[in-house]
Amino acid sequence: MTSPKTPLLQVNSLTKDFVRRGISARRSTVFHALQNVSFELFERQTYALVGESGSGKSTTGKIICALEKPTSGSVVFADRNYVDDSPKLLRERIHGQIQMVFQDPFSALNPRKTIGDALVEALEIQGLGDSAKERRASATEMLERVGLPGWHMQRYPHQFSGGQLQRVNIARALVIRPKVLILDESVSALDVSIQAQVLNLLQDLKEEFSLSYLFITHDLSVVRFIADRVGVLRKGVLVEEGDAHSIFAHPSTEYTRDLLASVPIPDPQHSQLPRAHPQPPTPFQPQTN
Ligand SMILES: Nc1ncnc2c1ncn2[C@@H]1O[C@H](COP(=O)(O)OP(=O)(O)OP(=O)(O)O)[C@@H](O)[C@H]1O
Ligand SMILES: [Mg+2]
Repeated sequence: MTSPKTPLLQVNSLTKDFVRRGISARRSTVFHALQNVSFELFERQTYALVGESGSGKSTTGKIICALEKPTSGSVVFADRNYVDDSPKLLRERIHGQIQMVFQDPFSALNPRKTIGDALVEALEIQGLGDSAKERRASATEMLERVGLPGWHMQRYPHQFSGGQLQRVNIARALVIRPKVLILDESVSALDVSIQAQVLNLLQDLKEEFSLSYLFITHDLSVVRFIADRVGVLRKGVLVEEGDAHSIFAHPSTEYTRDLLASVPIPDPQHSQLPRAHPQPPTPFQPQTN
C-alpha cells in the first residue's frame, strides 16, 4: 500500500480565468475564478474543499475531473500532468480513475434511459467487462451495494426519490472502480436525515473500495465528521489549509472563523449527522422519501 505521505493527486498552482463579454467586444473583462490553487489529495483520505458561493470550488472539481481546462497550472495523477491531454487519453487514463458526483441527482441522469442502461453504459465507455451479461451483473452488484435492490435496474430516474437517485449516481461513478471520487455538494440537496444515510454510505464505500474523496461543500457541519484535511477557498484563493481538527480548533483567518460561525452546533441527543466511524453495511430497507 502507498504510504499516506505519497499524494495520489497533486494540484499545482491552478489558475482559471473566465472572459466575461460585455455588450461590445471591447467591454470584455477577465474574471479570475482561481488563482494559484495548490493542494494534495492523499490515498484513502477525504479532502474537503469549502468556501462561500462563487469561491471556485466547482471549477476546481471540474478541472481535476478534466471537464474543464485550467488557464495555467497542473494536476498530477500517477506521476503525470494530464490537464493538456487529448479527450481520448483523458477517457483512457483519467475518467476511469477520477469520477464526479454532482449536486442535482436528477439532471445527472438521462430521463429516457433505465438506471441499468446508465450503469452498463458507464462500463461500456471504459471498455470494461467481457460481455453484456458480465456488465449487467457488475452493474446490478454495484446498485445493490449502494442499497438499492437489483430489480431497480429496469426503472427510470423519475421513479426514484432524490436520495435513491443520488445512490444511483454514486453507483454509476463507482461501477468502473475509480480511485478518486469528487463529490460536488452531492448531499446538499437532500433532506438532513437522507443526507446522513448517504454520508454513511460514502464512508463505508470509501473503506471498501479504498477510495479518496474530494468533498466540495459550503456546509461545514458535515466536514467535521468526514474530512481528514480541509482547504478553504475565498474568491479563488486557497486562504487556509490543514488538518481538519486543527482548522476547526484554530482557524487562522477571519473568513474561516466566519464560515465556522455559521455552522449550527449539533445536538448529540438528536444529531442527524453521520457516525464518526464506518460500520458494516446495513441491508437494504425500503425508503419512504
Ligand atoms: N463558464 C463560466 N463562465 C464565466 N464565469 C464562470 C463560469 N463558471 C464559473 N464561473 C464563475 O467563477 C466563479 C466560481 O464559480 P464556481 O462554480 O467554481 O463556484 P462555487 O464555489 O462552486 O460556488 P457554489 O457554492 O455557488 O456552487 C463564480 O463567480 C462563477 O460565476
Ligand atoms: Mg459549486
